[in-house]
Amino acid sequence: MAKRIGILTSGGDCPGLNAVIRSVVKTASRHGYEVVGFLRGYEGLVDPVSYTTLTYKNTEHILNQGGTILGSTNRGRFTAKVGVEQRQQIDPELLDEAVQTCRQLQVEGLICVGGDGSLSIAQQLFERGAPVVGVPKTIDNDLSATLFTFGFDSAVDCVTDALDRLHTTAASHDRVIVLEVMGRHAGWIALFAGISGGGDVILIPEISWTFENVCQTIAERDRNGKRFTLVVVAEGAALPGGELVTQENAEQDRQVRLGGIGNFVAREIERRMSRETRAVVLGHLQRGGAPSAFDRVLATSFGAHAVRLVIEGRLGQMVCYDPPSFTSVPITEAVAKIRQVDPENSTVIAARAMGISFGDSLSTGPAFRPLTAAAGSQPQP
Ligand code: F6P
Repeated sequence: MAKRIGILTSGGDCPGLNAVIRSVVKTASRHGYEVVGFLRGYEGLVDPVSYTTLTYKNTEHILNQGGTILGSTNRGRFTAKVGVEQRQQIDPELLDEAVQTCRQLQVEGLICVGGDGSLSIAQQLFERGAPVVGVPKTIDNDLSATLFTFGFDSAVDCVTDALDRLHTTAASHDRVIVLEVMGRHAGWIALFAGISGGGDVILIPEISWTFENVCQTIAERDRNGKRFTLVVVAEGAALPGGELVTQENAEQDRQVRLGGIGNFVAREIERRMSRETRAVVLGHLQRGGAPSAFDRVLATSFGAHAVRLVIEGRLGQMVCYDPPSFTSVPITEAVAKIRQVDPENSTVIAARAMGISFGDSLSTGPAFRPLTAAAGSQPQP
């Protein structure tokens, strides 16, 4: 019987999942492994066990396809994350059943592709004896230990394109347009796309802001002859009073669904300034479509390095990108804490220096602040 590697994709989908699958199949088969893909995330490991054999043939032409050919779920029996850095134990019998499936199929390495919630499940499986290796994915880019997760760059491209389009219509009508973007409790998408799409105000969870400061920026732009403003707001940016805007309350075993802050901010700007203001919510468009070139490279490299970890028997590890190298860290370390934007990081400082407002008091101070070296314990772009 051929040596076997298993792979599954879990949690919210993102561009680049198929690129990882293809890379794992190509790399593993060159090293004498057969690859089985479990369907619908961890659910495929338990009754009714569902998997498919992955080959060169059936993974052809998927490099540029969004989504995942294996399916995925972030609901159901395997839910380990119920809030920011809040985990729950999965039913041990279910975990044992999954471990048993790996043994029966003689899977030497189970490559689990997921965000921090899904990797927390991977860690629990590892602790019960499954030969797990982790691959970090998420458009939110909020996993510690890796500078970038794949999916993020493609989401930023999508938001950038939206901002390019909103720019011309906002300018034509002298309007304020508020664009709400995803990212959960991290502001990476808002920060990067806000810069690449020419946003004027960027509101992120990591920097407290006020409506007074946002309105002041809009008024200053008006005075300078820029009669339109683009505001990019992260779904997880708390309101000045500290509350998050959510679509529904968290259920017992589910994370809260964020969403709605864009409309809230737009209405408040309109009320305070009597300015025509519109809100746009990009939603799941940010998760769809083809992966960017950068994400294809990242996902392909992660896939190949994950196979290397299996071959070398380095189980319980997650591959990570620590430029210029691809390395690995224990999964426990990778999921211990989410990675948020450091307000002192060099990208934030550059944005401030050229006049982007973060809605805080520093944004309404002198136009230029001295550039200091970025602080922060973790590498940040
Ligand atoms: O974690 C990825 C993400 O797209 C977040 O940015 C967003 O808050 C969440 O998933 C949406 O989840 P769902 O697809 O369950 O609505």
